[in-house]
Amino acid sequence: MSEGGVYDDLELPSGTWRPYTAIQMVMTVDGAIKGPTDDYWPISLEADQRTFRRFRVHFDAVLHGARTLGMRIDRYMWSAELRRERQRRGLDEPPLFIVVSNSGQIDPGDRVFQRRSYPIAPLVVVPEVADVTAGLAAAAEIVRIGEARVDLEALMRYLAAERGVRRLVCEGGAILNYHMLNAGLVDEFFITVTPSIIGEPRPRTAVEGPAAWAGDEVQRLELVSTTRCGHEVFLRYRVDRARPLEA
Ligand SMILES: NC(=O)c1ccc[n+]([C@@H]2O[C@H](COP(=O)([O-])OP(=O)(O)OC[C@H]3O[C@@H](n4cnc5c(N)ncnc54)[C@H](OP(=O)(O)O)[C@@H]3O)[C@@H](O)[C@H]2O)c1
Repeated sequence: MSEGGVYDDLELPSGTWRPYTAIQMVMTVDGAIKGPTDDYWPISLEADQRTFRRFRVHFDAVLHGARTLGMRIDRYMWSAELRRERQRRGLDEPPLFIVVSNSGQIDPGDRVFQRRSYPIAPLVVVPEVADVTAGLAAAAEIVRIGEARVDLEALMRYLAAERGVRRLVCEGGAILNYHMLNAGLVDEFFITVTPSIIGEPRPRTAVEGPAAWAGDEVQRLELVSTTRCGHEVFLRYRVDRARPLEA
């Protein structure tokens, strides 16, 4: 696997009323998804980074929480590698890039909005009440879904019905992951364990809600596969509480 990614041969189902949805994350052996400062990024090794950037080949859209902007999520968005791989699969369009924000306070100067080579404007999804940053409308397509906060279920319905999104990858962060899982909108959870230990007392973890789920409501997963590549382990899980894809 010198050139490819661990999940190059993935065959994913298609969503109907909502996209078939996967979360993809990486964490250290001590469970951290980031270090205490930006100096620790990237936390993973080459195999995970290669797998991460090729994973988007399988999806019609890539979803991010607003607080992942700034971590250079624009990288590899529409690289020659991604373009070639998608064309090989009969997909000429790049994935739709989506950022959700409740506040609307997003820097229109972020690199993700400055990529002139990317042929589709990123979608920024905000609720009705959001006060959107000046200049953002010129850099992104803005869609309002939900009253006081973005209604993620309604967003999924919109993406499936209006934007033809059949498969979606949620690339974090932790807060968005919690709300997607809580709404039963996640089918699979992909997480790479990368061989380092940061040692922060309360690290950011892959899923963070306002409070833990009650004991009998914790998210149960079924292990689909484990793949070792170098010293990294790639774990793929099915999420038990995913809502049925049939309406
Ligand atoms: N290791 C990994 O694989 C990985 C992957 C991704 C990110 N990260 C790390 O995770 C951190 C960012 O994650 P984060 O948890 O702080 O933030 P996040 O999940 O990226 O973003 C949370 C924000 O999403 C917006 N949002 C809009 N609608 C929402 C809804 N219905 N439910 C929840 N959020 C909604 C809100 O934005 P507003 O605040 O604008 O209202 C909210 O504050 C970064 O430090 C990044 O480095 C690590």
